[in-house]
Amino acid sequence: MTKYDEVFRYSLTNAEGFWAEAAKSITWYKPFDKVLDSSNPPFYKWFPGGKLNTCYNAVDRHVENGRGDQVALIYDSPVTGTIKKFTYKELLGRVSAFAGALTAQGVAKGDTVIIYMPMIPEAAIAMLACARIGAIHSVVFGGFAPHELAIRIDHAQPKLLITASGAIEGKKTLAYKPLVDSAIEQSTHEVGKVILFQRDIVTAEMKPGRDFDWTQLEASATPVGCTPVDATDPLYILYTSGTTGMPKGVLRDNGGHAVALYWTMKNLYNINPGEVWWSASDVGWVVGHSYIVYAPLLQGSTTVFYEGKPVGTPDAGAFWRVISQHRVKSLFTAPTAFRAIKKEDPLGEHFAKYDTSSFECLYLAGERTDPDTLHWAEKLLGVPIIDHWWQTETGWAIVGNCRGIEELPVKEGSPTKAMPGYDVRVVNDLGEEVPRGQEGNIVVKLPLPPGTLCTLWRNDERYVKSYMSKFPGYYETSDGGYIDEDGYVYVMGRMDDVINIAGHRLSTGAMEEIIAGHPDVAECAVFGADDQMKGQLPVGLFVVKAGVTRDGEEIKKELVKMVRDTIGPIACFKDACQVARLPKTRSGKILRGTMRSIANNKEYRVPSTIDDPAILSEITEALAKMGYVKK
Ligand code: COA
Ligand code: AMP
Repeated sequence: MTKYDEVFRYSLTNAEGFWAEAAKSITWYKPFDKVLDSSNPPFYKWFPGGKLNTCYNAVDRHVENGRGDQVALIYDSPVTGTIKKFTYKELLGRVSAFAGALTAQGVAKGDTVIIYMPMIPEAAIAMLACARIGAIHSVVFGGFAPHELAIRIDHAQPKLLITASGAIEGKKTLAYKPLVDSAIEQSTHEVGKVILFQRDIVTAEMKPGRDFDWTQLEASATPVGCTPVDATDPLYILYTSGTTGMPKGVLRDNGGHAVALYWTMKNLYNINPGEVWWSASDVGWVVGHSYIVYAPLLQGSTTVFYEGKPVGTPDAGAFWRVISQHRVKSLFTAPTAFRAIKKEDPLGEHFAKYDTSSFECLYLAGERTDPDTLHWAEKLLGVPIIDHWWQTETGWAIVGNCRGIEELPVKEGSPTKAMPGYDVRVVNDLGEEVPRGQEGNIVVKLPLPPGTLCTLWRNDERYVKSYMSKFPGYYETSDGGYIDEDGYVYVMGRMDDVINIAGHRLSTGAMEEIIAGHPDVAECAVFGADDQMKGQLPVGLFVVKAGVTRDGEEIKKELVKMVRDTIGPIACFKDACQVARLPKTRSGKILRGTMRSIANNKEYRVPSTIDDPAILSEITEALAKMGYVKK
């Protein structure tokens, strides 16, 4: 038995023993009464009775234990020409003061706070300050439009909203305040207070009485200590795309989250306290929550906080510059970032200019790593390229290669094996396990390990319905795939209406809801077409109402604008076409999967339930005209 096998088996045969051992790395104010409460499945509770504070574990205790002068966070912002380092001691000063400012504004344990910020250190400070006082943060990604922010405001019902005056997105300067004002206007929940961090790049206009200046509040605040919370108390809500326009509010607890994330830093990523780790993502995504902010700080390592892109800030050598300048040991990003670099610098000429001798490993996730990118990166970097698979819901990897335990051989197209704590199976639609090598639904036997979602915020019912109902006793990942004879898991893609654009998760259902709202549109379908750079891009087909004679191209432009204005630029919805009819089953279900196969030049079987097979040639024709079908 290999070392990995041993650890993995133990994690499943004695889950409580395994996680009790891991929990020793966390400082508890009060020990937990038991490791796992399974009395009310599928609502499992890890470490009930335990009391801790996540911010204390991520910041204070490192100062108390002699790491105060170690750099905790390196802010590297090529877009503003700034590099700034914060030691753990400095971070503690900023976080405790800002937590004091929040307290003075009336935020207390159990209150929700929305954070809508670019990649500046204040975003991490805001998150940690909430954790410090037991408030529940909900970070909303800056690429979402005001409407999406408004949906989250209405659902999370924040006591207060924290934002900044703006961001630099590549070469564009974006003002955030008008977006925030518009979102607050669109929402029905009253946001009583806004704390805004003014940046040099753009100045926001303040609304007297409602808007408060971050810098002034922090300067005059009385620093506060950490509020002990229950292990099972919520730490944050992170909204993620589901199959409809209403996102799912994934809820994370404090105790399980701290234990699991700490455990992954060494065991999965092979990082030790004091080493430099870089996750090139955004705090608005789960990768940013877990691996820009919480996990590296919980462990006492140094996290790089990068406000830039892989290309264009200023060039395709940006990643190598950061690795070299800050002596980064490992980088975590999405394959799309590497495709962007490869496109600009196919020969990797920038790489040769930098001393990257500190660099040991590249971790990829967010979408499938295509073999081309894998091989290109392997050849260029000469370090292991480790794919791993996870979801917003799980907060950390479900399948990966535990380099800190034992590095397993990489198999192309597979993120390797189930992580300790995850009993991963593949089942058919009846819930029966399928033989090795056969594709089906990837599920995880309950209970899920600590750190995974506890429920959906204010929606237990949707939690049960979305994840726990189709295959009782299992968590439904909504990804399809198979497990090979050696136990390697292959993740082939989503089985639902979620698509993955440049490592960002978006809902085609949400886009359809917007398009269907156009006065000329009778019905529509949006599905993901393969894209060389971004993995997938959304494509829309729409049918106009009887009597509409307007130019389809004009309607398309309006639809593109509607989706951009409603969801945001991040939806990348740019392509749509009018068709006479959409293919459907006899019961009226639109055959999106079949259209997706046509657009992606994949073989498909004409569904036996199809109403009129002739429509498929019309769709093929339309998609060919749009440039999707290679004839
Ligand atoms: N705020 C406002 N707008 C944003 C934004 C933000 N934080 N992030 C992206 N956008 C905008 C972009 O400017 C772009 O707008 P445009 O249509 O006006 O050009 C649009 O949203 C689409 O963004 P994106 O899909 O990211 O495309 P891009 O061409 O700007 O960048 C990559 C492409 C590959 C360089 C970029 O997606 C990337 O670095 N991805 C890898 C890392 C990552 O983010 N992973 C996520 C999870 S691990
Ligand atoms: P998100 O919740 O944004 O992290 O997106 C989760 C989805 O991204 C998963 O359900 C998968 O479809 C996809 N995904 C993430 N990582 C991988 C990976 N390594 N391989 C294949 N798909 C992935």
